[in-house]
Amino acid sequence: MSIELAKQMEEARSYIASKIQIAPKVGLILGSGLGVLADEVEDAVEIPYSEIPHFPVSTVEGHASTFVFGKLSGTPVAVMKGRFHYYEGYTLSQVTFPVRVMKALGIETIVVTNAAGGIVPEWEAGDLMVIRDHLNLMFRNPLIGPNDDRLGPRFPDMSNAYAPELRTLAHEVAREQGLELREGVYVGLTGPSYETPAEIRMLRLLGGDAVGMSTVPEVIVANHMGIRVLGISCIANKAAGILDTPLSHDEVIEITKRIRSQFVALVREIVSRLK
Ligand code: HPA
Repeated sequence: MSIELAKQMEEARSYIASKIQIAPKVGLILGSGLGVLADEVEDAVEIPYSEIPHFPVSTVEGHASTFVFGKLSGTPVAVMKGRFHYYEGYTLSQVTFPVRVMKALGIETIVVTNAAGGIVPEWEAGDLMVIRDHLNLMFRNPLIGPNDDRLGPRFPDMSNAYAPELRTLAHEVAREQGLELREGVYVGLTGPSYETPAEIRMLRLLGGDAVGMSTVPEVIVANHMGIRVLGISCIANKAAGILDTPLSHDEVIEITKRIRSQFVALVREIVSRLK
């Protein structure tokens, strides 16, 4: 990270600001299969990532890769439909650059979502989980390099990386909606291969409840910049070795489709209360 980063953020921010009327308060990052929430945005202005200065160029065909700005349940939002993953070959500064740009646009809170494998044996595909904390098993950190003190501290505190009051809010809303909401520790690995059964047994011993290939870098950068984070995982499958069946990305997408109406209702209502 360098002084150059602040300049790039400002160029991306001013490009976006020239196209939108609202001042987003809440950012949302939508994970695999969860992009439908972006369709609920009112007065939507879509800006493809490819148009935005300094955004990484996406190489993957068929992946949604656009920002949607507008109002969700009355709250001005910046929605990332599609994110950048480390396993695609981006650096972690590229993966997390959009979070920095959302902060530059004025967001104070971010809702980070993902599809994850459930490590807790009793959890079923289709469960939703509030992230209480994470294990960074990517063994790399997006903040490595010179620190720009204007953006955040050299050594950011991560003891409440997932804001307790937002977790409480998520549980309140879920209770009102009659939705069972799990809570647990998200383990971030690089992927792109899924885990082996032995790795899943190890992650369980280490205190992990769900496992995925995203989220951790974005949450570190959000904390660096003082953004409050709410994380929600859609348990898309039981992790490797819990069942006898192989994992497939198609299954992950299928399950996220099945529960997306509950997911949409939950996140919409949470966002409406984040004024
Ligand atoms: N492992 C890692 N990432 C995932 C999984 C999984 O089982 N399911 C969805 N994303």
